[in-house]
Amino acid sequence: MTDQTALSFASKTAAGDGVAVVFAEEGPKLSPAAQDLDKKTGQLLSKASQITGFKGKKGTTVDVIAPQGVKFSRIIVMGMGKPDSFGHEDWLNLGGTVRGLLTGREGASAHVYLEPVKGDVSPANVSSFALGAQLRGYTFKKYKSTPKKNGDAGADKMLKKLVIHCADPRAAGSAFAPDRAIVDGVNLARDLVNEPANVLGPAEFAQRAKALTKAGVQVEVLSVPALKKLGMNALLAVGQGSDKPSHVVVMQWKGAGPKGGAPIAIVGKGVTFDTGGISLKPAGGMEDMKGDMAGAACVVGLMQALAERRAKVNAVGVIGIVENMPSGKAQRPGDVVMAKSGTTIEVLNTDAEGRMVLADCLWYAQERFKPKAVINLATLTGAVMVALGKEHAGLFSNNDELSEWLTAAGKETGEKLWRLPLGPKYDKMIESKVADIKNTGGKWGGSISAAQFLQRFIKEGTPWAHLDIAGTAMSSVDSDINRSWGSGFGVRLLDRLIKDHYERR
Ligand code: BES
Ligand code: MN
Ligand code: ZN
Repeated sequence: MTDQTALSFASKTAAGDGVAVVFAEEGPKLSPAAQDLDKKTGQLLSKASQITGFKGKKGTTVDVIAPQGVKFSRIIVMGMGKPDSFGHEDWLNLGGTVRGLLTGREGASAHVYLEPVKGDVSPANVSSFALGAQLRGYTFKKYKSTPKKNGDAGADKMLKKLVIHCADPRAAGSAFAPDRAIVDGVNLARDLVNEPANVLGPAEFAQRAKALTKAGVQVEVLSVPALKKLGMNALLAVGQGSDKPSHVVVMQWKGAGPKGGAPIAIVGKGVTFDTGGISLKPAGGMEDMKGDMAGAACVVGLMQALAERRAKVNAVGVIGIVENMPSGKAQRPGDVVMAKSGTTIEVLNTDAEGRMVLADCLWYAQERFKPKAVINLATLTGAVMVALGKEHAGLFSNNDELSEWLTAAGKETGEKLWRLPLGPKYDKMIESKVADIKNTGGKWGGSISAAQFLQRFIKEGTPWAHLDIAGTAMSSVDSDINRSWGSGFGVRLLDRLIKDHYERR
């Protein structure tokens, strides 16, 4: 659920109540607002710094209960180290860290006096700080029984109001308009990933995507008869074992208008639950497979963010939404199906289902939209975590420029990518004895053979990148800006890529 905290901006010197957050640089050198509070509290902040050995280092804090005579209940001095060298990610993470300090111990309101010792924080950086704070504020508590009005402290401990004090609150407010769209997009993606599979099956997922219509996105939901007509047999084969019918959703955002030219296409794997099918997964940890639609969730979150910030880009999102179940109707190992492209696939392992879903979606997106580039996201392989852990998502591409753009966007947003190789020798791994290709590539380099499989469905000359987000999109490691199981990985990354390289200026 989106952060329930109302965020606003106010002037540097405006009064506040509840929790005050002020800053100190290395030394410690107190910011003007911190100095002011120090004076009003009879040097309480200086004294507390001395006693606790606080030196203003980045990430360290001094936290005091405010004495009589000031309006605040509590004052937190946050160390920012050396803000002169801060980039976007530092401000973002600082916002997340501060928001984290306010969780669980707060009053209803908090006032952050965001200023270094000298000078001001630019509106763009104030906005990054606010973005980090909002992303950190996300919680998924939908299935926790409502806290009772009296009794449970949980309800009262919610931070209701967060005011960020800065030099130019109006400019910060306008800078934050697009970042608010990012918050909404990331949190939408997180919601979809966190939702259990009994609540969010293919039909419900399609319904949630359909809701983007309200934001100005054109949404089409294709159901089984339409998919059969289109020949999307690889995707349908994966979904045939489930009682829940498969869907493909096509989302179009035409922010650059007819003169904007061909769109960029973003394609997502949306397996609402992956049991493995007849090649059944072991029981331990299988619950995580409710997040096997994180690629599709990212596409939906991104399209919403682009629409909400009125991005001057033509973008189409195509997601394949299926459930992979074992049953009397399920596909078997050894089955052969013909994908929409005409390529035949020998299904050696029904648990290698994501690539079959993507195969038809990739082909469909290229045939219909002739996009200037195609990027797909998928929780495609466990092997990518063996290679890269949970720090980087795997990047595969047939295009060096697109690869570099994506890698740079990853560094800027902190949604990091690491490029892995493709090549003819790897492609050999998916040669089949009975069909054109098989859906597994053997024991080694599992993420690479999966990527080679996808590349079989990319047309000559189309710049394409595949992001294997199995390690970064779900069961995520805690960070300054995320404490949610589903991280919403990819929304900020691709929004940045589009802003830097695909938007009309
Ligand atoms: N959805 C899984 C990949 C996955 C595993 C994502 C763990 C997140 C966490 C995918 O469909 C899968 O099962 N891949 C198999 C491929 C194999 C059968 C060739 C894998 O990685 O083991
Ligand atoms: Mn699988
Ligand atoms: Zn899967």
